[in-house]
Amino acid sequence: MGLDVDKVREDFPVLQRVINGKPIVYLDNACMTLRPIQVIEKIREYYTEYPACGERSMHKLGRKVDEGVERSRETLKKFLNARNTKEIIFTKNTTEGINLVANSLDLKNGDVILGTDKEHNSNMLPWQKLSSRGVKYEIVRSNPDNTFSIENFKEKMNKDVKLVAMVHTSNMDGTTTPMKEIVKIAKDHGALVLMDGAQSIPHHELNMKKLDADFLAFSGHKMLGPSGTGVLYGKEHLLEKLGTFLVGGGTVVDTTHSEAKFEELPQKFEAGLQNYAGIIGLGEAASYLMKIDKENVEKHETELNKRITEGVGDVVDIIGPREAGKRSGIFSFNYKKVDPHEIAMMLDEMENICVRSGAHCVHSWFNTHNLKGSVRASIYLYNTLEECEKFIETLKKVIDAVK
Ligand code: ALA
Repeated sequence: MGLDVDKVREDFPVLQRVINGKPIVYLDNACMTLRPIQVIEKIREYYTEYPACGERSMHKLGRKVDEGVERSRETLKKFLNARNTKEIIFTKNTTEGINLVANSLDLKNGDVILGTDKEHNSNMLPWQKLSSRGVKYEIVRSNPDNTFSIENFKEKMNKDVKLVAMVHTSNMDGTTTPMKEIVKIAKDHGALVLMDGAQSIPHHELNMKKLDADFLAFSGHKMLGPSGTGVLYGKEHLLEKLGTFLVGGGTVVDTTHSEAKFEELPQKFEAGLQNYAGIIGLGEAASYLMKIDKENVEKHETELNKRITEGVGDVVDIIGPREAGKRSGIFSFNYKKVDPHEIAMMLDEMENICVRSGAHCVHSWFNTHNLKGSVRASIYLYNTLEECEKFIETLKKVIDAVK
């Protein structure tokens, strides 16, 4: 059976809201998804029933916090098909996960990190920063239609590439890199692979045992979870070898005035008091998604994106390939030289249509292509065909007004 969108929508209280007599059409899911009542309730439960500190508080409330956090870690392990819970490090977002790896890997002068030409700043700046140590950051140029070029990738691979740090699904145009093939080629050259999964985890089934990538970073807020939460997945033997990153309370078993004995995994990477409510809410978001067939989610998003592409694809300049099937749920575009922010504000003003505009944290790609940014509509599992029709109709009106 396909996705029961009407039933899914009942779980999202904000979709019942009416502003200026009209419903909200939320098409900004690549930035942040809405949250279901199940996640909201879990967070409320923490704050009303056991709002205490975990990590060795001996009282009942503290023990319940620890149970909640470890249950969440177990759920995330299942969600990713990881080998064990030591491979799940809670972070505050994708950015922190990538910074953790960039600051802890043993990289030296002459080593190369390879990304694509459309990485999010969060998967580029942490690597560029390593230039002070002589580590080089290089990119694989995309095909003319902005899809990943395996040929260009193969040409770039050599023994100096120590890590391939690449986006899985692009937040800018929705294209997905062939990660299995990338991992295989990287391994043949002895390089590690880090996946930026922020935009793929909400929409695709990720099986880390099968994919065999070494690290994966993602955020909770793009997958129905609380903001300020995320996960760094890493293979246990690699995480064991990583140096520490943020250090302090929670990361040590003992200290003296001159040294520290660090915790085992995963605690050695979880410094300071944790976002307990967020972590528990994130586990609930993963449970929610596990009850829904991701193939149906992908199918639904592609169908809606096809409709939008048919409706206005000839009127605007689409970023990325023309075929909607290659852009998952993302429709990113420009209309002539009109400021993307102006179009976004008009859509909101006229019909409460929420889209994102600007460079989407991928300034480097827009600068290379001499563009200021784009308007981006991004679809998720609760969006409907009617909402897409409303988007098409309103965008046509906006275009009539600005042309
Ligand atoms: N990275 C976020 C986006 O794509 C901000 O909208």
